[in-house]
Amino acid sequence: MVEQEYRIDKVLFSRGEIAERISDLAGRIAADMRGRELLVVGILNGAVFFLTDLVRRMPEDLDVRVDFMSVSSYENATKSSGVVRILRDIGSSIEDRHVLIVEDIIDTGYTLSYLLELLHARKPASLKTCVLLDKSARREVAVHVDYCGFSMPDAFVVGYGLDYAGRWRHLPDIHSVSAVGS
Ligand code: IMP
Repeated sequence: MVEQEYRIDKVLFSRGEIAERISDLAGRIAADMRGRELLVVGILNGAVFFLTDLVRRMPEDLDVRVDFMSVSSYENATKSSGVVRILRDIGSSIEDRHVLIVEDIIDTGYTLSYLLELLHARKPASLKTCVLLDKSARREVAVHVDYCGFSMPDAFVVGYGLDYAGRWRHLPDIHSVSAVGS
């Protein structure tokens, strides 16, 4: 079978819009977390770009710690299998800590719903979610998102950490992709 080829298309969210929205989110999170220690858990690989910009916009006197988890994602395909597997876990206990999961995009909701269930069982003091992009029209399982960057239509996007089969993560803006020949 010949694999469909894709090309990057128009910019959906520019670097300027992303930066502005992230400043707002960082301000809201910092206000909600004032006086507490916040453990920000980024979901590798896609959320790295978003997380690093987000935490650098938080006030310097906020007690912020950073860790990462890695879960299996779509394998060279634009559709989710609904199957989530932990490839790398958080390095320390989260019991009685204030945890914020940072994810690049929520699509069907399987990834975040699984992570919420898994981390909730470890008895954190609080557990919140922050996503840069929300494709709510595609949701298959209900997930509460506490902090959301942008709602977006049902399109596959790349750039600013998001990839298609490993490509285009490094683009500074977020683009839609389209099939070559369409
Ligand atoms: P969910 O489990 O279906 O909500 O999917 C979440 C994961 O799917 C994200 O962490 C991304 O890795 C991947 N994903 C979903 N939509 C896109 C997209 O448009 N571009 C790149 N990755 C995506």
